[in-house]
Amino acid sequence: MALNFMTAEEAAQMINHNDTFGLSGFTAPGTPKAIIEEVAKRAEKEHEAGNEFKINVFTGASTNDHVDGILARTNTMGRRAPYQNTPDLRKRINSHDAHYNDRHLSEMAQEVRYGFYGDIDYAIIEAADVTPDGEVLLGTGLGNIPTYAAKAKKIFIELNEALPKTLYGMHDVVLLQDPPYRREIPIFTPSDRIGSPTLKIDMNKVVGVVKTNSLDGVKPFTEPDEVSKQIGSNVVNFLLSEYRRGRLPKEFLPLQSGVGNVANAVLYDLGESNELPKFRMYTEVVQDAVLELMKKEKCVFASTCSMTFSDETERELFSNLDFFHDKILMRPAEISNNPEVIRRLGVIAMNTALEADIFGGVNSTHVLGTRMMNGIGGSGDFTRNAYISIFSCPSVTKGGLISNIVPMVAHADHSEHSVDILVTDQGVADLRGKDPVQRAEEIITNCAHPLYKELLWDYLKLGKGGQTPHSLAAAFAFHTAFAEHGDMQKTDFSKYC
Ligand code: COA
Repeated sequence: MALNFMTAEEAAQMINHNDTFGLSGFTAPGTPKAIIEEVAKRAEKEHEAGNEFKINVFTGASTNDHVDGILARTNTMGRRAPYQNTPDLRKRINSHDAHYNDRHLSEMAQEVRYGFYGDIDYAIIEAADVTPDGEVLLGTGLGNIPTYAAKAKKIFIELNEALPKTLYGMHDVVLLQDPPYRREIPIFTPSDRIGSPTLKIDMNKVVGVVKTNSLDGVKPFTEPDEVSKQIGSNVVNFLLSEYRRGRLPKEFLPLQSGVGNVANAVLYDLGESNELPKFRMYTEVVQDAVLELMKKEKCVFASTCSMTFSDETERELFSNLDFFHDKILMRPAEISNNPEVIRRLGVIAMNTALEADIFGGVNSTHVLGTRMMNGIGGSGDFTRNAYISIFSCPSVTKGGLISNIVPMVAHADHSEHSVDILVTDQGVADLRGKDPVQRAEEIITNCAHPLYKELLWDYLKLGKGGQTPHSLAAAFAFHTAFAEHGDMQKTDFSKYC
């Protein structure tokens, strides 16, 4: 079938108020780059004319500014799932201009197939290539596109000429059967392939192909600050000590690493250690550090959903694709983040908390308990099913006005049942095999900042027994002190005694 080329503006003219989109990609990579931007421009005109015009956007994870940023600024985002991380959309979510369903990334695709999100009007697929009979070579991130393409009534393709066709072979495209027909997912090592190198689509649904030519626009990482470096080094020392004690097998176990500067710093530090063996990753994103580790032959393979490389690193990857081609395999989010596989492989999960409580609960999403930061992302998929689940965060924030170790987290994303190890710049708390009071002692001693240790010990004494001796009256005293005085150090437990 001949491809129907059109401009992004022409594609945007076909969109109606309240249409629902399923986009390819996971983080910026693989996310379509042109049509949504034109839809936002069109929405602005509709708004000026006094017409309602919003669209609903479902993705693999976060996107980039020309999806979430521009739709938020033009107030065009209706419903959004399963994850975002842009400041402008964050504001719209917290003011309820946009309705955000913050979901475990591994579950989104099947929930769309079950019909929990209604119809998908359009899928937009970023492609490196497409054949007339509907074989799509995807880009640098997959997300949930096999499901969106299958469920969508109509499909647009954004054919990105900046993507080399030599990406062929780096994707493992799978669409799972739903219960009761679901079978085991036969991945026994991170490099096992179970699907197809291309996405097969129904060309009768393709209403237009838009040409683009741009890299993913991921910014390079800033040099980690002292606190991030200290956290990175504490994580690596913990892993080394586990390895020396024989609690990690001699071949090591696959690593999952969250996003951000701390995650990147941990990976760079791992590369510096001569004692740790070569390792593999089973993760949802690979960042710049992973390419460096591959060049050093420290990381020998990465299964991922997306290659979240800065543009500079992406150029390096594309010009040395021969070397990296068989070392990275991209999968849909419901496979990269699949609990069955994560549990089987024994993944070591490393994620970041906004705050943690003295008993081991973690808040990754809600600033001071109410305002959405980004979302749970894949952290729940990995944490709940990991061989060892590690959370890290700085011990304090805002120059010490906020303690990231609190009596009780103001929003619970990961309960104490799922968190094994807590790491801050102060040290490492090993929570495994301990009861709640022992965990509290471990966390206050090893992870709390000296500014807050006494207050946390005082809180622990307030509890009147029970397995987890909270004082429900005082559990949020740190947060209320911040709300009243702008400083958690002003917490006064005497009124609760
Ligand atoms: N209370 C209030 N504000 C806090 C805070 C706390 N306990 N902890 C951090 N903050 C503020 C910081 O001061 C900073 O504010 P700023 O933007 O005004 O500078 C902001 O929150 C971000 O903090 P930072 O330490 O820079 O966070 P980060 O970039 O390391 O990200 C998470 C941390 C938790 C937000 C991020 O990892 C995340 O979204 N995680 C959930 C999803 C996930 O884990 N994905 C990967 C899974 S594979």
